[in-house]
Amino acid sequence: MHPIHPVLITQKGALFDCDCLDLLARLRDESVDCVFADPPFNLGKDYGKGTRGDALREKEYLDWSRTWLDACCRVLKPGGALFVYNLPKWHLALGSFVMERLQFRHWIAITMKSTYPRGDRLYPAHYGLIYFTKGNPRAFTRLRTPIASCRHCGKDLKDYGGHRGALNPDGISLTDFWEDTSPVRHRKFKSRAANELKPMIPDRAIRMSTEPGDLVLDPFGGGGSTFEAAETTGRFWLGSEVGDCAPAGERLASLGVADQLPAPLRLAFQPRGLPPDLGPAQE
Ligand SMILES: C[S@@+](CC[C@H](N)C(=O)[O-])C[C@H]1O[C@@H](n2cnc3c(N)ncnc32)[C@H](O)[C@@H]1O
Repeated sequence: MHPIHPVLITQKGALFDCDCLDLLARLRDESVDCVFADPPFNLGKDYGKGTRGDALREKEYLDWSRTWLDACCRVLKPGGALFVYNLPKWHLALGSFVMERLQFRHWIAITMKSTYPRGDRLYPAHYGLIYFTKGNPRAFTRLRTPIASCRHCGKDLKDYGGHRGALNPDGISLTDFWEDTSPVRHRKFKSRAANELKPMIPDRAIRMSTEPGDLVLDPFGGGGSTFEAAETTGRFWLGSEVGDCAPAGERLASLGVADQLPAPLRLAFQPRGLPPDLGPAQE
């Protein structure tokens, strides 16, 4: 196996500019607490230099997806969580593949704000974030969201049928229907051309399914929203991005960069074919 080198290291994480299968092949079985994967949707998007086409034949896309999903299931620790973000159509085929390996937890619907008609079909109004665990979840935190209010008049958006006073002041329990975030960051805040998620999406997945100090893997790093979420919630992280890693680097630059890999990251690597600084810890 040829060595791979991180292009970016912070005190909590490392980003590799390689194909995700190259990174996954170097990770030990059951070494990662959470995988958050936001792959290309095969919609013909141009992810830039180094990336392969995003317009594969259906079988080719599904075969490729099963390959990286299988590797993600392998590296998950018992009780660890896998989140996959994709179109409902791909989730149907790939979700059943993952269910043969992991336990299904939720299909989280994330609403799309601006949608458009497609011929003789319904308007698509959500993407799916499917959530699995390897056996029973090792960690689960019930998250709360603020009680939604009108941004003009400040009044509650929903009628709580006389139970308003009984609501938890910390907010409403998070459901599997996320309408308070849109899948793609507003153009004004986007630092890269294609498909950058609002950090709120990986942030919720990470806080819900892991503890501080756990290790999160994102095989499709993109603009680095998962890495930001891991950094700000005190989790370690690993990522790969086959295209341009600069946007993720720019995002992380403001969060503090160190030059040493912390022990949990070193321990996750297979010893074979790695440069000495990425070999397993000696302790
Ligand atoms: C939908 S975007 C991910 C966006 C990311 N979640 C964010 O919020 O910025 C998918 C990313 O996967 C990358 N990619 C595509 N194929 C890959 C592969 N085989 N290995 C690693 N990265 C890949 C693309 O270049 C693209 O940046």
